[in-house]
Amino acid sequence: MSLADVTYVPELAAHDHEIEDINVEAFGPGRFARAAYKIREGGPHRRDLSLVALHDGKVIASVRLTPIAAGEGRALLLGPLAVRPAFKNLGIGKRLVAISLDAARADGAALVVLVGDGPYYGPLGFSRIPGGQLAMPRPVDPTRLLAAELRPGALEAFRGEVVHADHAQPTAETVAAPAAEPLPEKLRA
Ligand SMILES: CC(C)(COP(=O)(O)OP(=O)(O)OC[C@H]1O[C@@H](n2cnc3c(N)ncnc32)[C@H](O)[C@@H]1OP(=O)(O)O)[C@@H](O)C(=O)NCCC(=O)NCCS
Repeated sequence: MSLADVTYVPELAAHDHEIEDINVEAFGPGRFARAAYKIREGGPHRRDLSLVALHDGKVIASVRLTPIAAGEGRALLLGPLAVRPAFKNLGIGKRLVAISLDAARADGAALVVLVGDGPYYGPLGFSRIPGGQLAMPRPVDPTRLLAAELRPGALEAFRGEVVHADHAQPTAETVAAPAAEPLPEKLRA
């Protein structure tokens, strides 16, 4: 197997079954109990920013990014990241993370957050989020809560309860924004 035969492409709906298989293999039934899973249940992931690695037309690895919110902060949650066992330790996982960070940055994201092993993600630009800054929907080892700032200082505003972005509380900016259009005459009470 040559790494030159591996391609990295945005995820498509057609990849869903293979991605599910890879995640079952990597995480087993325990995946449903994870805090990150609970957040991801709240809404869709960003398929356009999520990636698969293909070899011989088959999905051999996957990473997903999901929009999340905490307080006034917005971020992307990275994960699950999983590589088929036969393709581990070839650099594919790290490459997927690096490309997904580039995609997130190009899309204007300020922050990427994940729950994972510091020694693996540290060299990819992630560091520990200060203890107590985030409230996750299920217990998480605080040493595994990591973030990569794509815009310096973005982590500061990301604090409090972490939810899928579809369930975000309106920010001060949103609340202060004036109504776009006055109601048409016939709709006024
Ligand atoms: C973790 C995982 C995604 C790594 O993908 P990969 O393509 O095999 O890893 P890479 O080739 O990019 O990197 C390999 C290096 O990372 C190290 N590494 C792998 N998993 C690690 C971990 N959990 N913690 C620290 N280092 C790790 C390897 O020892 C190797 O080190 P080396 O380069 O010094 O030899 C893959 O093993 C996997 O799918 N695991 C099961 C699911 C999982 O745990 N996902 C991550 C959730 S946080």
